[in-house]
Amino acid sequence: MLTIDDFSVDYLGERTTHAVKNVSLTLGRGEVLGLAGESGCGKSTLAYGVTRLLKPPALITSGSATFHSREGYSVDLASLGGADLRAFRWDKISMVFQGAMNSLNPVISVQAQLEDIFTTHRPEMKWKERRQVAGDLLERVGVDRSRLKSFPHELSGGMRQRVMIAMAMALDPQVMIMDEPTTALDVVVQREILDEITRLRSELGFAVIFITHDLPLLLEISDRIAVMKGGEIVELGDAYELYTNPQHPYTKRLLASFPSLTGERGDFIRTGVADARLGVEDAVTAVAHSEGADR
Ligand SMILES: Nc1ncnc2c1ncn2[C@@H]1O[C@H](COP(=O)(O)OP(=O)(O)OP(=O)(O)O)[C@@H](O)[C@H]1O
Ligand SMILES: [Mg+2]
Repeated sequence: MLTIDDFSVDYLGERTTHAVKNVSLTLGRGEVLGLAGESGCGKSTLAYGVTRLLKPPALITSGSATFHSREGYSVDLASLGGADLRAFRWDKISMVFQGAMNSLNPVISVQAQLEDIFTTHRPEMKWKERRQVAGDLLERVGVDRSRLKSFPHELSGGMRQRVMIAMAMALDPQVMIMDEPTTALDVVVQREILDEITRLRSELGFAVIFITHDLPLLLEISDRIAVMKGGEIVELGDAYELYTNPQHPYTKRLLASFPSLTGERGDFIRTGVADARLGVEDAVTAVAHSEGADR
Protein backbone atom coordinates (compact mmCIF):
# COMPACT_ATOMS: atom_id res chain seq x y z
CA MET A 1 0.00 0.00 0.00
CA LEU A 2 2.82 2.30 0.90
CA THR A 3 6.52 2.34 0.08
CA ILE A 4 8.70 4.67 2.10
CA ASP A 5 12.15 4.89 0.64
CA ASP A 6 15.26 6.48 2.19
CA PHE A 7 13.14 9.08 4.00
CA SER A 8 14.96 11.75 6.03
CA VAL A 9 13.70 14.79 7.94
CA ASP A 10 15.66 17.56 9.65
CA TYR A 11 14.45 20.28 11.97
CA LEU A 12 16.50 23.28 10.99
CA GLY A 13 17.77 25.61 13.66
CA GLU A 14 20.84 26.74 15.49
CA ARG A 15 21.43 23.09 16.10
CA THR A 16 19.78 21.09 13.37
CA THR A 17 18.08 17.89 14.55
CA HIS A 18 18.24 14.92 12.22
CA ALA A 19 14.89 13.58 13.39
CA VAL A 20 14.42 10.88 10.75
CA LYS A 21 17.35 9.29 8.97
CA ASN A 22 17.13 7.26 5.78
CA VAL A 23 14.06 5.28 6.76
CA SER A 24 12.79 2.65 4.34
CA LEU A 25 9.57 0.74 5.02
CA THR A 26 6.80 -0.98 3.16
CA LEU A 27 3.23 -1.42 4.30
CA GLY A 28 1.35 -4.39 2.88
CA ARG A 29 -2.32 -4.59 2.01
CA GLY A 30 -4.40 -5.01 5.15
CA GLU A 31 -1.26 -5.17 7.28
CA VAL A 32 -0.83 -3.70 10.76
CA LEU A 33 2.70 -2.34 10.97
CA GLY A 34 3.78 -1.29 14.44
CA LEU A 35 6.27 1.53 14.89
CA ALA A 36 7.92 1.42 18.29
CA GLY A 37 10.63 3.42 19.99
CA GLU A 38 11.32 5.77 22.86
CA SER A 39 10.04 9.32 23.10
CA GLY A 40 11.78 11.65 20.68
CA CYS A 41 13.08 8.92 18.35
CA GLY A 42 11.21 10.40 15.38
CA LYS A 43 8.02 8.34 15.08
CA SER A 44 5.62 11.25 14.70
CA THR A 45 8.01 13.14 12.46
CA LEU A 46 8.13 10.16 10.12
CA ALA A 47 4.32 9.90 10.04
CA TYR A 48 3.85 13.62 9.44
CA GLY A 49 6.63 13.66 6.87
CA VAL A 50 5.17 10.81 4.86
CA THR A 51 1.75 12.48 4.79
CA ARG A 52 3.34 15.86 4.01
CA LEU A 53 1.97 17.52 7.12
CA LEU A 54 5.27 18.92 8.36
CA LYS A 55 5.82 22.65 8.47
CA PRO A 56 9.08 24.62 8.71
CA PRO A 57 11.53 24.36 10.38
CA ALA A 58 11.01 20.74 9.36
CA LEU A 59 12.59 19.86 6.04
CA ILE A 60 12.42 16.59 4.15
CA THR A 61 16.01 16.14 3.06
CA SER A 62 15.78 12.85 1.20
CA GLY A 63 13.55 10.07 0.09
CA SER A 64 10.03 9.46 -1.10
CA ALA A 65 6.72 7.97 -0.06
CA THR A 66 4.61 6.25 -2.67
CA PHE A 67 1.02 5.15 -2.23
CA HIS A 68 -0.16 2.11 -4.19
CA SER A 69 -3.93 2.13 -4.47
CA ARG A 70 -6.25 -0.85 -4.45
CA GLU A 71 -7.30 0.27 -7.89
CA GLY A 72 -3.79 -0.30 -9.18
CA TYR A 73 -2.27 3.16 -9.59
CA SER A 74 0.66 4.61 -7.66
CA VAL A 75 1.13 8.18 -6.44
CA ASP A 76 4.27 9.85 -5.18
CA LEU A 77 2.98 11.90 -2.28
CA ALA A 78 5.50 14.67 -3.02
CA SER A 79 3.78 15.25 -6.34
CA LEU A 80 0.51 16.25 -4.69
CA GLY A 81 -0.16 19.77 -3.50
CA GLY A 82 -2.90 21.92 -1.98
CA ALA A 83 -6.43 20.63 -2.40
CA ASP A 84 -5.33 17.36 -4.02
CA LEU A 85 -3.17 16.56 -1.05
CA ARG A 86 -5.91 17.40 1.46
CA ALA A 87 -8.42 15.25 -0.38
CA PHE A 88 -5.93 12.45 -0.63
CA ARG A 89 -5.25 12.57 3.09
CA TRP A 90 -8.84 11.93 4.05
CA ASP A 91 -9.74 9.69 1.20
CA LYS A 92 -6.80 7.33 0.83
CA ILE A 93 -4.54 7.79 3.82
CA SER A 94 -6.06 9.07 7.02
CA MET A 95 -4.42 9.94 10.30
CA VAL A 96 -5.36 9.78 13.94
CA PHE A 97 -3.03 12.23 15.62
CA GLN A 98 -1.22 12.02 18.90
CA GLY A 99 -3.48 13.68 21.47
CA ALA A 100 -6.24 13.75 18.88
CA MET A 101 -9.03 13.65 21.38
CA ASN A 102 -8.31 17.27 22.18
CA SER A 103 -8.42 18.37 18.58
CA LEU A 104 -12.17 18.14 18.04
CA ASN A 105 -13.74 21.55 17.60
CA PRO A 106 -15.34 22.31 20.99
CA VAL A 107 -18.19 24.47 19.68
CA ILE A 108 -19.42 22.13 16.96
CA SER A 109 -21.52 19.02 17.59
CA VAL A 110 -20.16 15.57 16.80
CA GLN A 111 -22.79 15.25 14.10
CA ALA A 112 -21.75 18.46 12.35
CA GLN A 113 -18.08 17.51 12.50
CA LEU A 114 -18.72 14.10 11.00
CA GLU A 115 -21.11 15.42 8.36
CA ASP A 116 -18.66 18.13 7.43
CA ILE A 117 -16.28 15.50 6.08
CA PHE A 118 -18.95 14.33 3.66
CA THR A 119 -20.04 17.83 2.71
CA THR A 120 -16.44 18.56 1.73
CA HIS A 121 -15.38 15.26 0.20
CA ARG A 122 -18.65 13.72 -0.98
CA PRO A 123 -20.63 16.75 -2.14
CA GLU A 124 -23.02 14.55 -4.08
CA MET A 125 -24.32 12.98 -0.87
CA LYS A 126 -27.82 14.02 0.21
CA TRP A 127 -28.20 15.37 3.76
CA LYS A 128 -30.32 12.42 4.82
CA GLU A 129 -27.65 9.99 3.77
CA ARG A 130 -24.97 12.08 5.49
CA ARG A 131 -26.93 11.93 8.72
CA GLN A 132 -27.40 8.20 8.40
CA VAL A 133 -23.74 7.53 7.63
CA ALA A 134 -22.54 9.76 10.48
CA GLY A 135 -24.61 7.68 12.93
CA ASP A 136 -23.40 4.42 11.38
CA LEU A 137 -19.80 5.54 11.77
CA LEU A 138 -20.26 6.28 15.45
CA GLU A 139 -21.81 2.90 16.06
CA ARG A 140 -18.98 1.26 14.19
CA VAL A 141 -16.53 2.51 16.83
CA GLY A 142 -18.81 1.61 19.71
CA VAL A 143 -20.48 4.96 20.44
CA ASP A 144 -24.26 5.19 20.51
CA ARG A 145 -25.68 7.30 17.71
CA SER A 146 -27.63 9.34 20.23
CA ARG A 147 -24.25 10.98 20.88
CA LEU A 148 -24.37 12.70 17.50
CA LYS A 149 -26.04 15.65 19.21
CA SER A 150 -23.28 15.95 21.81
CA PHE A 151 -20.52 18.50 21.89
CA PRO A 152 -16.98 17.25 22.47
CA HIS A 153 -16.83 18.43 26.10
CA GLU A 154 -19.85 16.27 26.90
CA LEU A 155 -17.97 13.12 25.91
CA SER A 156 -15.42 11.13 27.87
CA GLY A 157 -11.84 10.98 26.61
CA GLY A 158 -12.36 7.47 25.28
CA MET A 159 -15.48 8.54 23.39
CA ARG A 160 -13.68 11.52 21.89
CA GLN A 161 -10.88 9.26 20.78
CA ARG A 162 -13.42 6.95 19.16
CA VAL A 163 -15.01 9.89 17.39
CA MET A 164 -11.58 10.78 15.98
CA ILE A 165 -11.14 7.21 14.78
CA ALA A 166 -14.62 7.30 13.23
CA MET A 167 -13.67 10.51 11.42
CA ALA A 168 -10.48 8.95 10.14
CA MET A 169 -12.47 6.00 8.81
CA ALA A 170 -15.27 8.10 7.32
CA LEU A 171 -14.16 7.92 3.70
CA ASP A 172 -13.05 4.29 3.79
CA PRO A 173 -9.31 4.98 3.51
CA GLN A 174 -6.90 2.30 2.40
CA VAL A 175 -4.25 3.27 4.93
CA MET A 176 -4.70 4.61 8.45
CA ILE A 177 -1.79 6.07 10.38
CA MET A 178 -2.48 6.07 14.08
CA ASP A 179 -0.07 7.98 16.28
CA GLU A 180 -0.52 6.96 19.93
CA PRO A 181 -4.30 6.82 19.45
CA THR A 182 -5.00 5.30 22.84
CA THR A 183 -2.06 6.25 25.02
CA ALA A 184 -3.96 8.76 27.14
CA LEU A 185 -6.66 6.25 27.99
CA ASP A 186 -7.00 3.73 30.77
CA VAL A 187 -6.14 0.15 29.95
CA VAL A 188 -9.69 -1.17 29.71
CA VAL A 189 -10.88 1.53 27.31
CA GLN A 190 -7.62 1.20 25.39
CA ARG A 191 -8.25 -2.51 25.04
CA GLU A 192 -11.80 -1.95 23.78
CA ILE A 193 -10.65 0.53 21.17
CA LEU A 194 -7.82 -1.73 20.01
CA ASP A 195 -10.21 -4.64 19.66
CA GLU A 196 -12.47 -2.38 17.65
CA ILE A 197 -9.63 -1.31 15.35
CA THR A 198 -8.54 -4.93 14.89
CA ARG A 199 -12.09 -6.00 14.10
CA LEU A 200 -12.68 -3.17 11.64
CA ARG A 201 -9.36 -3.83 9.98
CA SER A 202 -10.36 -7.38 9.17
CA GLU A 203 -13.87 -6.28 8.16
CA LEU A 204 -12.86 -3.31 5.98
CA GLY A 205 -9.37 -4.37 4.94
CA PHE A 206 -7.44 -1.15 5.50
CA ALA A 207 -3.76 -1.21 6.41
CA VAL A 208 -2.54 0.46 9.59
CA ILE A 209 0.69 2.04 10.74
CA PHE A 210 0.32 2.00 14.50
CA ILE A 211 2.73 4.21 16.42
CA THR A 212 3.40 3.85 20.12
CA HIS A 213 6.22 3.48 22.61
CA ASP A 214 4.20 0.63 24.14
CA LEU A 215 5.93 -2.43 22.74
CA PRO A 216 3.78 -5.06 24.49
CA LEU A 217 0.72 -3.49 22.92
CA LEU A 218 2.34 -3.61 19.49
CA LEU A 219 3.27 -7.25 19.94
CA GLU A 220 -0.41 -7.97 20.36
CA ILE A 221 -1.83 -6.12 17.41
CA SER A 222 0.90 -5.92 14.76
CA ASP A 223 1.83 -8.21 11.91
CA ARG A 224 5.27 -6.64 11.69
CA ILE A 225 7.09 -4.22 13.95
CA ALA A 226 9.69 -1.59 13.16
CA VAL A 227 11.84 -0.46 16.06
CA MET A 228 13.10 3.08 15.79
CA LYS A 229 15.95 4.69 17.66
CA GLY A 230 17.54 8.08 17.10
CA GLY A 231 15.69 8.59 13.83
CA GLU A 232 16.62 5.23 12.35
CA ILE A 233 14.89 1.90 12.01
CA VAL A 234 17.20 -0.45 13.87
CA GLU A 235 15.12 -3.58 13.47
CA LEU A 236 12.13 -4.58 11.40
CA GLY A 237 10.46 -7.93 11.45
CA ASP A 238 7.54 -10.22 12.04
CA ALA A 239 6.06 -9.40 15.46
CA TYR A 240 6.46 -12.93 16.74
CA GLU A 241 10.05 -13.19 15.49
CA LEU A 242 10.91 -9.88 17.03
CA TYR A 243 9.54 -11.00 20.36
CA THR A 244 11.11 -14.43 20.42
CA ASN A 245 14.35 -13.66 18.64
CA PRO A 246 15.24 -9.95 18.80
CA GLN A 247 18.43 -9.14 16.92
CA HIS A 248 19.34 -5.58 17.78
CA PRO A 249 20.62 -4.81 21.30
CA TYR A 250 18.17 -1.93 21.53
CA THR A 251 15.22 -4.20 20.76
CA LYS A 252 16.44 -6.59 23.46
CA ARG A 253 16.68 -3.72 25.92
CA LEU A 254 13.24 -2.48 24.97
CA LEU A 255 11.75 -5.94 25.49
CA ALA A 256 13.58 -6.37 28.78
CA SER A 257 12.23 -3.06 30.04
CA PHE A 258 8.73 -4.53 30.19
CA PRO A 259 8.87 -6.94 33.14
CA SER A 260 5.71 -8.75 32.18
CA LEU A 261 7.36 -9.82 28.94
CA THR A 262 10.36 -11.40 30.54
CA GLY A 263 9.28 -12.45 34.04
CA GLU A 264 9.12 -16.07 35.06
CA ARG A 265 5.38 -16.02 34.43
CA GLY A 266 6.61 -16.86 30.99
CA ASP A 267 5.16 -16.19 27.62
CA PHE A 268 3.32 -13.13 26.69
CA ILE A 269 -0.04 -13.93 25.24
CA ARG A 270 -1.24 -11.93 22.32
CA THR A 271 -4.89 -11.04 22.02
CA GLY A 272 -6.74 -9.23 19.29
CA VAL A 273 -5.29 -11.04 16.34
CA ALA A 274 -5.01 -14.65 17.40
CA ASP A 275 -1.64 -16.11 16.56
CA ALA A 276 -1.63 -19.88 16.62
CA ARG A 277 2.05 -19.92 17.50
CA LEU A 278 1.36 -18.14 20.74
CA GLY A 279 -1.82 -19.98 21.60
CA VAL A 280 -4.34 -17.41 22.71
CA GLU A 281 -6.00 -18.95 25.71
CA ASP A 282 -6.73 -16.36 28.25
CA ALA A 283 -7.39 -12.81 27.20
CA VAL A 284 -7.67 -11.73 30.82
CA THR A 285 -4.09 -12.80 31.47
CA ALA A 286 -2.94 -10.76 28.53
CA VAL A 287 -4.78 -7.70 29.76
CA ALA A 288 -3.27 -8.19 33.19
CA HIS A 289 0.14 -8.49 31.59
CA SER A 290 -0.20 -5.33 29.60
CA GLU A 291 -1.56 -3.54 32.67
CA GLY A 292 1.54 -4.64 34.49
CA ALA A 293 3.64 -3.33 31.66
CA ASP A 294 1.98 0.03 31.83
CA ARG A 295 3.14 0.61 35.37
N1 LIG B 1 8.90 21.45 15.64
C1 LIG B 1 10.08 20.94 16.01
N2 LIG B 1 11.20 21.70 16.00
C2 LIG B 1 12.40 21.21 16.34
N3 LIG B 1 12.60 19.93 16.70
C3 LIG B 1 11.54 19.11 16.73
C4 LIG B 1 10.22 19.57 16.40
N4 LIG B 1 9.37 18.53 16.53
C5 LIG B 1 10.11 17.49 16.94
N5 LIG B 1 11.41 17.82 17.06
C6 LIG B 1 12.52 16.93 17.45
O1 LIG B 1 12.56 15.83 16.55
C7 LIG B 1 12.83 14.62 17.24
C8 LIG B 1 11.73 13.60 16.97
O2 LIG B 1 10.50 14.05 17.52
P1 LIG B 1 9.14 13.25 17.32
O3 LIG B 1 8.03 14.09 17.82
O4 LIG B 1 9.06 12.77 15.93
O5 LIG B 1 9.38 12.00 18.29
P2 LIG B 1 8.40 10.80 18.70
O6 LIG B 1 9.14 9.54 18.46
O7 LIG B 1 7.09 10.96 18.03
O8 LIG B 1 8.26 11.00 20.28
P3 LIG B 1 7.00 10.75 21.25
O9 LIG B 1 6.97 9.28 21.53
O10 LIG B 1 7.37 11.54 22.47
O11 LIG B 1 5.78 11.25 20.57
C9 LIG B 1 12.98 14.99 18.71
O12 LIG B 1 14.35 15.13 18.97
C10 LIG B 1 12.29 16.32 18.81
O13 LIG B 1 12.89 17.11 19.81
MG1 LIG C 1 5.16 11.31 18.71
